[in-house]
Amino acid sequence: MFFLADKPATFWFPEQASTFAPEVDSFYFALLYISAFFFVLVVGAMVYFMFAYRMRPGYRGSVEALHNNWLEFWWTFIPCCIALWIFARGAWGFLDMMSIPVGTNDIDVTARKWAWNFKYPGGVESDELHVVLEKDTKLTMRSDDVLHSLFVPAFRVKCDLVPGRYTQMWFRPTKVGVYDLFCTEYCGDKHSQMAAKVSVQTQEDYDAWIAKEMTPPSDPVEWGKKLFTKTKGCAACHGVEGKRVVGPPLNERWGKDVALATGETIKFDKSYVRESVLEPQAKAQKGYESASQMPSYQGRLKEEEIDALVAYFKSQTAGVEVPKAPASEETKK
Ligand code: CUA
Repeated sequence: MFFLADKPATFWFPEQASTFAPEVDSFYFALLYISAFFFVLVVGAMVYFMFAYRMRPGYRGSVEALHNNWLEFWWTFIPCCIALWIFARGAWGFLDMMSIPVGTNDIDVTARKWAWNFKYPGGVESDELHVVLEKDTKLTMRSDDVLHSLFVPAFRVKCDLVPGRYTQMWFRPTKVGVYDLFCTEYCGDKHSQMAAKVSVQTQEDYDAWIAKEMTPPSDPVEWGKKLFTKTKGCAACHGVEGKRVVGPPLNERWGKDVALATGETIKFDKSYVRESVLEPQAKAQKGYESASQMPSYQGRLKEEEIDALVAYFKSQTAGVEVPKAPASEETKK
């Protein structure tokens, strides 16, 4: 509204990219200036009185408590009005953010340690949030494990995701671009890396993106890689470079024996992958007894998707034959 409308990132704030942003910022600055004004007034008066009524030879202050009705009335009345205005302005902004308009673009959000999953009408899933410029967007959010919180600084919106409950929020993006999305509720080891990107796109670009995402890659390895690194967020905890991360690495494993926490060994094959994805606690690997950190993917991975992941793990193991993409009409020629 006043001061800042539609300026790029400043010392104080990130870029303004939603209709809420100018509102929130102007209110913030109003509070800042009010506080600064009274700080200077009160501290200034204090310093002045300290000096004016200091102890010095020949000076005697009054011994009676002084009283001034008018002064007391005004210094109560004015701050009271300001406090009421702050409350009203805050409540107004809060209600605006809480009242979800009709006709929104609806996106489902699932948070789990430590990845975001966004699901669009039509079933497209992604680890990035794509939203349409100047279109009211509603997020319906849930958590699979612990408390998380979704925060998009450029939109000035933030809302908790609570296990066992749905929460909702809305916003209207006003500027095409790519913005940051953070988790702002401490949720474990990799909380600080639980971030994602928000793409604000024109309707055309958004439709084109959805159309592209609708069709999974025909090559199983490519598809598996996409599921692993992007759509399902596995790469948040599992590496394919042999490095130790939160979960066991999944490269160079296919067909080999892996040691379990129980002291037994098990062959890393499709049954083991499938079981571990659907019931992560069943057979934790040695050194990764904290498998309880991983939520079950039961109902969240189709059988074909597990096949694609298996193809990807095979491709990451030297000397293992990888299934080929079924030859399409074009490649046959
Ligand atoms: Cu999720 Cu912090």
